[in-house]
Amino acid sequence: MSFDRSIKIAPSILSADFANFSAEIQAIEAQGADWVHIDVMDGHFVPNLTFGPPAVKAFRPHVKTVMDVHLMITPVDPYIQAYADAGADILTAHVEAGAHTHRTLQAIRAAGMKAGVALNPGTPAYAVEHLLDLTDLVCVMTVNPGFGGQKFIDMTNKIRKLRSMIGDRPIHIEIDGGVDPKTAPLVAAAGADVLVAGSAVFKGGSVDNPEVYGANIKAVRSAAESATS
Ligand code: DX5
Ligand code: ZN
Repeated sequence: MSFDRSIKIAPSILSADFANFSAEIQAIEAQGADWVHIDVMDGHFVPNLTFGPPAVKAFRPHVKTVMDVHLMITPVDPYIQAYADAGADILTAHVEAGAHTHRTLQAIRAAGMKAGVALNPGTPAYAVEHLLDLTDLVCVMTVNPGFGGQKFIDMTNKIRKLRSMIGDRPIHIEIDGGVDPKTAPLVAAAGADVLVAGSAVFKGGSVDNPEVYGANIKAVRSAAESATS
């Protein structure tokens, strides 16, 4: 994975057909997805339950781009090796998930993955200030995690602060929650480069009608790019 700050669209398969993940992943990649975002929920850190390491491992052969795994679980550390074995390229843990995020990020890198750290809407930018040298991606949640299709919460001040804290370091700023063609320009102008989008990508389309995914991805990308050029 090489680093750049161009806009990347990462559809969240939380909004895909759960009975047809392989075809859904192939469809979004064929329609222009840059990364594939996988939301792992434990029914404990967040009030919803999705899938674990065996499912993520089954997705792996279908993902030709970047498998971006967002853990909404606690504890994290006992599962890091399982997600490395499942083939995650990026593994993101929440800073609120435990007392020792510093150790968690070291362990993610030691297991051979890129390390991400996510912040809930109520968590300030400075919570990651002393973690940045161990971090490849900061994920700014613009909804309270747990469900797709929620309303965007404006976190542009936090994104600007993070962008300035990061400076020249090769660290992505990812935005997750309520990203659509209306909100994408706000977060892109503030300094985000990876835009996760679930409902905005999958709405109206299907594996039998994948061009809709393509049009939806293009709409988010063009809106974001218009704010950065
Ligand atoms: C929220 C998840 C998101 C979610 C985004 O807990 O982390 O990735 O699927 O979905 P939308 O784009 O529908 O808000
Ligand atoms: Zn997510």
